[in-house]
Amino acid sequence: MQRIPVVGGNWKMHLTRQEARQLTAAIRAALVDLVGVEVILFPPSPWLADVHDALEGSTIQVGAQNVYWEPQGAFTGEVAAPMLRGTVDHVLVGHSERRIVFGESVWETADKMRAVCDAGLTPLLAVGEPMADLRAGRTNDTLRRQLVEGTRGIAAMPPGLIVAYEPVWAIGTGEPATPAAAQERCAFIRSVIADRYGDEAAEAVRIQYGGSVNAQNVASFIDQPDIDGALVGGASLDAEAFAAICRAAR
Ligand code: 13P
Repeated sequence: MQRIPVVGGNWKMHLTRQEARQLTAAIRAALVDLVGVEVILFPPSPWLADVHDALEGSTIQVGAQNVYWEPQGAFTGEVAAPMLRGTVDHVLVGHSERRIVFGESVWETADKMRAVCDAGLTPLLAVGEPMADLRAGRTNDTLRRQLVEGTRGIAAMPPGLIVAYEPVWAIGTGEPATPAAAQERCAFIRSVIADRYGDEAAEAVRIQYGGSVNAQNVASFIDQPDIDGALVGGASLDAEAFAAICRAAR
């Protein structure tokens, strides 16, 4: 099966409204002739509608960085999945910054996954081991737990599911995993999806590598058989660098 490469730009908690509009316009212009790669921008939530509007008529998609699991209610400050419908296509769930900085448990990740699926949106599930797990040789156990518990209660693989493998120690450090190590983990992730949802699902799921990806190193990851794209943090805030990454993913 031919899996279409997919590149995500996770802007995290950066950019003013004006800067977000400018970056969107610059990325759109830089990628106007790009075919064969899916591109998803993940702006901060207050700028989602701006980015959506600025991408009208473009193939570039919009994703939310986070979501709450209840569909509505007295949850001050939270955003519900149904509210995102019509503005975003994808929702990032389980990013390590949610897990570590905000103490999000795998149960909460699973609740969010279900909320995203119930709203008819496509989840991008991020998994990855902290340095302590790597050192202790527990990486695969951690990845399996994040994948299996994080999709608890979801009987069939969500259509279009994307999984991002982001080793925590590689995020924002300038020290990416080696392409060979990333390939090994992504192949393992695919095998867990096969156990969970069957071979056909495992063939279809797209797996990204994330963690200090830049225009220079992205090709070495994308060349790996089980890596179908990249989830980019820092370098996605620079239109030229991000466009170069998207082109390299082709
Ligand atoms: P960096 O590309 O800045 O390492 O961030 C990766 C990331 O966390 C994307 O979600």
